[in-house]
Amino acid sequence: MSSPDSTAAATQIVPEQVPSRAMGRHLDRQDGVAKVTGAATYAVEHPVDGDVLHAWLVTSTTARGRVLRVDASDALAHPGVRRVLDHTSAPRLADTEDRELAVLQDEHIGFRGQIVALVVATSSEAAREGALLVRVHQDEEAAEVVFDEHSATYAPEEVNAGAETDTVDGDPDAALAAAPVTVDATYTTPHEFNSPMEPHAATATWDGALLTLHDSTQAVHAVRATLAPVLGLEPEQVRVLAPYVGGGFGSKGLPHAPEVAAALAALAFPGHPVRLAVTRQQMFALTGYRTATRSRVRLGAEPDGTLVALRHDTTSQTSRIKEFAEQSATAARMMYAAPHRATTHRVAALDVPVPSWMRAPGEMPGMHAHEVALDELAVATGVDPIDLRERNEPEVDPESGKPFNGRRLVECLRLGAERFGWSERPARPRSRAEGDWWVGTGVASATYPMLFSPGNTARIRSLGEGRYGVDVGAVDLGTGARTVLVQIAADALRVAPDCIDLAIGDTDLPFATVAGGSSGTSSWGSAIAAAAQQFRHDHGATPDPGLHTTAASGAYTDTDGHAMHSFGAVFAEARVHRWTGEVRVSRLHGVYSVGRVINPMTARSQLLGALTMGLSAALHEEGWRDPRTGHVVTQDLATYHVAAHADVLDLQAEWLEEEDHLATPMGSRGIGEIGIVGTSAAVANATFHATGVRVRSLPITADHFLDI
Ligand code: MOS
Repeated sequence: MSSPDSTAAATQIVPEQVPSRAMGRHLDRQDGVAKVTGAATYAVEHPVDGDVLHAWLVTSTTARGRVLRVDASDALAHPGVRRVLDHTSAPRLADTEDRELAVLQDEHIGFRGQIVALVVATSSEAAREGALLVRVHQDEEAAEVVFDEHSATYAPEEVNAGAETDTVDGDPDAALAAAPVTVDATYTTPHEFNSPMEPHAATATWDGALLTLHDSTQAVHAVRATLAPVLGLEPEQVRVLAPYVGGGFGSKGLPHAPEVAAALAALAFPGHPVRLAVTRQQMFALTGYRTATRSRVRLGAEPDGTLVALRHDTTSQTSRIKEFAEQSATAARMMYAAPHRATTHRVAALDVPVPSWMRAPGEMPGMHAHEVALDELAVATGVDPIDLRERNEPEVDPESGKPFNGRRLVECLRLGAERFGWSERPARPRSRAEGDWWVGTGVASATYPMLFSPGNTARIRSLGEGRYGVDVGAVDLGTGARTVLVQIAADALRVAPDCIDLAIGDTDLPFATVAGGSSGTSSWGSAIAAAAQQFRHDHGATPDPGLHTTAASGAYTDTDGHAMHSFGAVFAEARVHRWTGEVRVSRLHGVYSVGRVINPMTARSQLLGALTMGLSAALHEEGWRDPRTGHVVTQDLATYHVAAHADVLDLQAEWLEEEDHLATPMGSRGIGEIGIVGTSAAVANATFHATGVRVRSLPITADHFLDI
């Protein structure tokens, strides 16, 4: 690798369209062999020089209060324990404004499960044993940990992704009052937890004033940019590496407290690498989760189902120590035409862990409510659910008035209907049984914004004999980014994929933004396209070895001229057992319009994975807090059930052939999140169609169907 230049100003150019040769075709996962053979090393597995130490977190058992005293005498008597840090002894941070990241800086406890001490020992086992020997004396104050319809809420300044808190067009309340047909229902979604296979983990090493962090993250540069000021360092003093990441689903999109804890533990032992792995149980309090939501949706329509008014009023909860406002009503702003519309977001601040990003924050819970409400309108008007959606298709984005970049929702619905056999569907619910199972089908729309992050930078290096090094500080959290970036680079440089030597996952590489918001491939790929274009301009098609060019991608996406979104349609067949209420999803079929699919295999895996996660949300996932203590009692994968193989039956994903050159030079948009959107609604609508019982809360559990 040539010298790091991630902070050097790079030429910014808006790339031209990339012709597709490798893009659109199969390419094996570039990291497949390394992963299945165990050669790929994760955050606490990286071989490091020096005498390795291990840190273990001790967490609060009260939801609100103060640490009076940490008694470490027994822990320190353990032969393997080297040190116990608490708020009186931990190194001071330079910036404690972000209270989620202000680890061990004062005695205040903001939620149950917060880090209150840190044990450093010679082995992982000794650290864990030491942690059990630490006695934390806490002063407990009355805490509020329950989120329900009685929670006191406020209007945040803005909601996640910088969206507006409230919007109103026309006079929705008057229009609802006058509408011939109305739906007014409240839908709830529970606390959901990201649960990646690789727990959050880091290996931290200080070498003088330089910190190296092998982290399990979706964003090496963002971790550096966030942690450097917290630690009182310049960004150049922090190097973050994440060559392989075992999933994240958003929970690793931002640094959380454990990364700071790892850095603090290592600071106490200069020169010693310190490994810190968060346990599965600790993850339920320390690494983000999707807040529960309550959405009241009101629809007003003509007898033929044409919407005249809609309101989506949603509440969620956040942590008192740091605000995160799930943007659940934003999809209602652009989804269907209705002249009178209103959306509002309110949040309750509680003494609970800090919620954060989880796959399609906002769209996932919001579209659940919205698309079940649409199904209720279909029932109320007697209009077929697909016809109803088509009837309410807007000409332009109802919110901004801009044309869409290519809204193909109706095509997704129509193609899916054909594939799924929708025309054979009985109009009346509860009209089909097979043995002891009621069988029904349901549909829902999916949408996700096309997001592009400007400023991404890539470096192209000629290696000789037609080979190129391509460097970008992107992260592949298991999505296939490493593979599709090779395909993009090959096409941008007009060579075959096996001529590309790609390096990612290191802040020593050129600046790249988060693998989040389904923006990674669009944003990093555009940077590669820009750098390749500049390289070919500077050095031609047969460059000498050693030449290199670094360039940043200017804003490519036509967000000024167009409302940029992806769309999809999800079809579900559900079976509900007549006597036990057990629900099985026998078929799930998603059809998507997501721009050009760069790699059909990795794309399909993303969509099937997200559909599975939507199925999991529909039937299983539900986090529970003890109302007395704030303890997340569902803190393992036995009590917090995530869909497993046996839960998934016939699962299909397909997409429309298209290229979106308003979106990216590759013609692609994002695919990571859209597959979870609408999926739980399709399942809910199918269970209604099977049984005639409308379940308005997730997950859809057997007890709802016991009286049928
Ligand atoms: Mo995704 S929740 O934006 O990492």
